[in-house]
Amino acid sequence: MAVQTRVVSIFFIQLVLLAVSGLNRANGAGLRTGYYDESCPDAETIALKTIRKAISKDVTLAAALLRLHFHDCFVRGCEASVLLDAAEEGDAEKDASPNFSLRGYDVIDDVKSAIEKSCPGVVSCADILALAARDAVRLTGGSFWKAETGRRDGRISLSKEADENLPSSNFNIAQLKQNFASKGLTKKDLAVLSGNNNSNNDRLYNFTGRSDTDPALDPTFASELKKKCKPGGGGPFLELDQGSSTISDAHFYKAVRQNRGLLTTDAALLNDHVTRAYVNRQSTSAAAGATFGRDFGESMVKMGEIGVLTGNEGEIRKRCAFVN
Ligand code: HEM
Repeated sequence: MAVQTRVVSIFFIQLVLLAVSGLNRANGAGLRTGYYDESCPDAETIALKTIRKAISKDVTLAAALLRLHFHDCFVRGCEASVLLDAAEEGDAEKDASPNFSLRGYDVIDDVKSAIEKSCPGVVSCADILALAARDAVRLTGGSFWKAETGRRDGRISLSKEADENLPSSNFNIAQLKQNFASKGLTKKDLAVLSGNNNSNNDRLYNFTGRSDTDPALDPTFASELKKKCKPGGGGPFLELDQGSSTISDAHFYKAVRQNRGLLTTDAALLNDHVTRAYVNRQSTSAAAGATFGRDFGESMVKMGEIGVLTGNEGEIRKRCAFVN
């Protein structure tokens, strides 16, 4: 009986520990701003310089870097699994169809090599992704936030997990809310973080899979877009947030409100009272730009805390595409 009680209490303690470690993962415990101040004081400056150089050659890389961080965090948490090449276990996240159009891997590699020269084996690829997203936004005129660091890198990357965890561009509002809630993000985070998207023309040419146009899309706008953007994506690069050349721009909300948001999921923001109120507020209020900048920074910090590995978990990869 005593043995049984001991087994039960050990089991209970393990359960509690598991729950606590689960909570830590969810709320980003172990992360802080300036994590590398002592161990690699130039890390953030090196990252900024390298990213500035890349963006000065191709401004569209800014959007790509922001998206990389998002696609990393939504699958296994922000632990750079999106950067790993396929290993023996099979296809990696980057081989999954929602990730086919991800770009900017080489910029992350350049930042990593530059930082490794100064302080080898100290700064994680997961943190580089978070810093790159932050710097990409600020360098293209968006808001600035203090990015937390202290993440470590994971060792597993599976294509099926990308398929299962990344929101599809055809999701309705219920699916979007559920997907964000499963990552610990609110409806407000959904409305705020959606203020960025680019590309994909299903709403123009293949809304229900029968070569049709989404009836919710403003018809004049739809025919303007069809001139610029051919079926199958053969046309020129299409900015979803039409009229805005930077990322993180409250202009997006005006477009959504006028039924000119291009993704099905953009339009879906009008189908919930919280997300709709946010769209309306950002597209009408005089201070919309200012509050959006602050909101965006807050939601990005929260997104950057999803499922992080800290302390002795994971590793600091030597090269971002490979486990050590
Ligand atoms: C809410 C659910 C979301 C869906 C369904 C979605 C879907 C998409 C799709 C279909 C594209 C076009 C990809 C292509 O060109 O083939 C895209 C691009 C993009 N998305 Fe999202 N997205 C979502 C949320 C987010 C979030 C939360 C962020 C950032 C915080 C983000 C940032 C971007 C950026 C920056 C691009 C442009 C990337 C580039 O130019 O390379 N998206 N998204």
